[in-house]
Amino acid sequence: MIDPNQKIDLLGQRSPASFMKQYWQRKPLLIRNAIPDFKPPVSFTDLKNLAKQDNVESRLIWQENNTWNMENGPFSRFPKITEPDWTLLVQSMDLHHDALAQLMQQFRFIPDARLDDVMISFAAMGGGVGPHFDSYDVFLLQAQGQRKWRISQQKDLSLVPDLPCKILQNFEAEEEFVLNPGDMLYLPPHVAHDGISLSDKCMTISIGFKTPSFATLALGLLEAAADQINARANLGFGLYSEPVMKGPNLGGMYKDKGQEATDTPAEIPERMIQAALDNIAKISFNKELASRFLGCWLTEPNQLSVFEASETAVYLDVEVPESGTLMLDRKTRMLYFGNEVYINGEALPVRLNPLLKTLANQRSMPAAAIGKANEDTRELMQQWLEDGWLHFRP
Ligand code: SIN
Ligand code: CO
Repeated sequence: MIDPNQKIDLLGQRSPASFMKQYWQRKPLLIRNAIPDFKPPVSFTDLKNLAKQDNVESRLIWQENNTWNMENGPFSRFPKITEPDWTLLVQSMDLHHDALAQLMQQFRFIPDARLDDVMISFAAMGGGVGPHFDSYDVFLLQAQGQRKWRISQQKDLSLVPDLPCKILQNFEAEEEFVLNPGDMLYLPPHVAHDGISLSDKCMTISIGFKTPSFATLALGLLEAAADQINARANLGFGLYSEPVMKGPNLGGMYKDKGQEATDTPAEIPERMIQAALDNIAKISFNKELASRFLGCWLTEPNQLSVFEASETAVYLDVEVPESGTLMLDRKTRMLYFGNEVYINGEALPVRLNPLLKTLANQRSMPAAAIGKANEDTRELMQQWLEDGWLHFRP
């Protein structure tokens, strides 16, 4: 794992600890030669091939007649490399390509819970997506050719109306940098930026980190509470209900023995209102409930992810391989909190143990270590192999 206190090139000979303290969510940082001798992990042909597929999210953005245009993929044709001012963007590259999933590992001094995706942009001379801001933290790593970034911490973030993409109405650059392959620019959310390609083959890799809105956090918690009520009262199963959590059993019924005869039948009885309030008050909005929601929600696979089991036949539930490695698929998401473990949108029926903790943090483990796992964990891992969530490399 990454040592938070060790200085690294990736952060300009800063330690992750000092980067997080001084820059993260605070101010931009230009890092020259963040990855020395960096070679683009994919070619333009690879990107075009991906952008032709309907299980890959891609966009083309170009300027024409002084206005901005955008089209969503999949594409069957692409502008010529000799035509200026266009950009092809391919989203979630970490799900589609091992080299990009590997690259992302270098940023795991930031919790996985914050990771969004790795996007690649490929631009012809003069291409860019226009001056804009993102709500994400982003590392913009130059992969090929040169790009000029202009940035501004301006307060005015008003957008040009009626355009297919977000373009700032009044962008006033405060700083300007030309990035070469291996150089990287970190931008916190809401820093205005405009990147223009200075080459006929300009590739930029954006490693993006999202934050949930407060409304999403609160709504998700309410949903988890609703699931808990459903499960405990046997009303049917909700999204995050398995395994069933401890909590109040609201299986009883409202009673109104003592209700007096009324001459205002349209009025809702006060005691029914109070019963609703009394019963919701029985729910504990605690860390267990919050982690159930966050764990299941954050590990939900990307909707375009398709898992495929690998060929190698091992049976972890009956044998312990002497050598080899067990690796999570690059599309698998795995998190934990307290004793609960979450994988690909599900809470596990087994508690966190040292083996699962290693697998979640390192995304791989020596296969022989399975010998130390309890039966339930071995059965689960066997299931993950069959589902293509985990792979065995001899
Ligand atoms: C790009 O790579 O062209 C756009 C990335 C960004 O501005 O976030
Ligand atoms: Co941006």
